[in-house]
Amino acid sequence: MGTAEVGSERMPNHVAIIMDGNGRWAEERGLERNAGHRAGLDTVREVVRAAGDLGLKYLTLYAFSSENWERPKGEVTELMYLLEHYLEEELDEALEQGVRIRAVGQLDKLPPTTRKAVDHAMDVTGGNTERHLILALSYGARAEIVDAARSLIRSVEAGVVDPARLDEKTFASHMYAPDVPDPDLMIRTGNEYRVSNFLLWQIAYSELYTASVMWPDFHRADLEAAIEDYAGRERRFGLTGAQARLNGKPSDDGVSSG
Ligand code: FPP
Repeated sequence: MGTAEVGSERMPNHVAIIMDGNGRWAEERGLERNAGHRAGLDTVREVVRAAGDLGLKYLTLYAFSSENWERPKGEVTELMYLLEHYLEEELDEALEQGVRIRAVGQLDKLPPTTRKAVDHAMDVTGGNTERHLILALSYGARAEIVDAARSLIRSVEAGVVDPARLDEKTFASHMYAPDVPDPDLMIRTGNEYRVSNFLLWQIAYSELYTASVMWPDFHRADLEAAIEDYAGRERRFGLTGAQARLNGKPSDDGVSSG
């Protein structure tokens, strides 16, 4: 499939990916799990490039969950190292291509060197608007909702928000990246059918796609197949088919597509 086969009105604006299966990919080859993460990083590079070529505006990658802190120390250290390495290495290309890099999650839990690399990438690319690469790091969707509630309570205490007038839009404005539109398409690799505490608020109306391949085996053609599949679906947002056909379109730059 080329971009020509998916009309721009059928292209998702925001794709979010749960990159699962690095460990199993390695174990199937008799390798240590970290070899799977290193191979997974090659896939990250390929998919980020492919997303750019396809004209995808927002790409969110679930790189490290709140629960991943409980993994063996050597695995956590390797993942932090890969992340730092990736951010340093990709910075020039991100700047060249107008990609804004940002991270969502409880970033204060990251080791200092990782936090520094993340902050640096966000600072340097902060003015870019062409495309957006969002890394979910130390991220849990329930924690994000609790953090949003905490921030909202402060706004109520400060007299900025009237609880009687609280609505979904105001609540969403307290999430980690409120300006990022909700994902149109969420992909999970690794032959699993779980949401795993990823973007629970934002995927209310997202289309879901699962790939049976492990993340290191997910290539450009697999991303294209997922987008092609998405392009053939009818999104109804709780409306009738006829209503949805009149209204339905991928999320724009607003807070919510739903
Ligand atoms: C899930 O596979 C994947 C992760 C926990 C980490 C994802 C990290 C990368 C792809 C590499 C670094 C990424 C960036 C953005 C720099 P798993 O280990 O849970 O696989 P399993 O289910 O087979 O055990």
